[in-house]
Amino acid sequence: MNASISAIGSYLPEKILTNYDLEKIVDTNDDWIISRTGIKERRILDKGLGTSFMAIKAAQSIIKKKQINPLEIDLVIVATITPDMHATATAAYVASEIGAFNAFGFDINAACSGFLYGMSTASAFIESGRYKKVILIGADKMSSIVDYSDRNTCIIFGDGAGAVLLEPNNEGLGVQDEYLRSDGSNRDLLRIEAGGSQLPTTKETLESKKHFIFQDGKNVFKHAVFNMADASEQIMKRNGLTNLDVSFLVAHQANKRIIDATSNRMGIADEKVLMNIHRYGNTTAATIPLILSDFESKFKKGDNIIFASFGAGFSWGAMFLKWAYNH
Ligand code: UT7
Repeated sequence: MNASISAIGSYLPEKILTNYDLEKIVDTNDDWIISRTGIKERRILDKGLGTSFMAIKAAQSIIKKKQINPLEIDLVIVATITPDMHATATAAYVASEIGAFNAFGFDINAACSGFLYGMSTASAFIESGRYKKVILIGADKMSSIVDYSDRNTCIIFGDGAGAVLLEPNNEGLGVQDEYLRSDGSNRDLLRIEAGGSQLPTTKETLESKKHFIFQDGKNVFKHAVFNMADASEQIMKRNGLTNLDVSFLVAHQANKRIIDATSNRMGIADEKVLMNIHRYGNTTAATIPLILSDFESKFKKGDNIIFASFGAGFSWGAMFLKWAYNH
């Protein structure tokens, strides 16, 4: 028995932050941002609202669409690096708010690979035979940890949430294989230094802006290009897939150039490479389910789909799925 995605939901805040808006805040410009990243605009969630706000809306859109009784949901997983609070899982709150009173919930902290690792976790729960309905949500309010005076990070990130429902599949469709990796020795290249157990928040850490996300962009870029392409190639080789067999690449949306490098290495045609980075920027754990949501109507039952990601940790990987339903 396989685990397959049987429904998709999403939520994006209404407020749009364009490259032109950023030009007024930091020393940057629309041309540079588009040519170096592919991003034109991103969404920003209102102050006072947490990641759970978006995660709840994304999960509720699945419940409505699939007409499922929330009491049938067994498990809610939220992949995020911007939980509502450090202590208490955002997923537990989301489960309660959507009425999933028979479920348990926990968060996954794997940054941009959170959704991919979450797919692995959620499908293992289904494949065990013990659980029938798992809601996996990738959600991040990156605007809560971005320093809007740092042009290395503020131009990239945005807020959003995407969700999927995973259920058992007896037709051989759904998750087929995964290739997941991490490398903690490079954690300093993309991190929030303060606010954890190693360096708790103090007046000094706030003044030195160590509570914001820091990125050594150039270095992260190099690792991202190599590893995301490598993982995608590995998963193709291991499953005997040629470039013609792959129906779509659903890659983490961090930088258009990283996605292009990955698809070139896989040798797949441009029309199979799905992108919405120009509209939402990098929403961290939400990028992959937001692609699924935007392009759901393109997927056909039996399509061979590759998920790929790279992010802080470092964490990266690829997954091979056979799409399980027609829209
Ligand atoms: O999602 C998790 C993983 N994250 C990623 O995968 C992100 C990986 N990194 C990147 O996407 C890219 O490194 C960035 C988009 C962050 C930066 O692009 P880059 O092509 O690596 O730029 P760079 O840092 O090498 O800078 C090139 C030039 C520099 O000027 P000089 O020294 O050549 O005169 C920078 O000062 O561009 C300048 N620059 C900017 N100019 C305008 C850097 N940031 C900006 C900016 N606007 N925002």
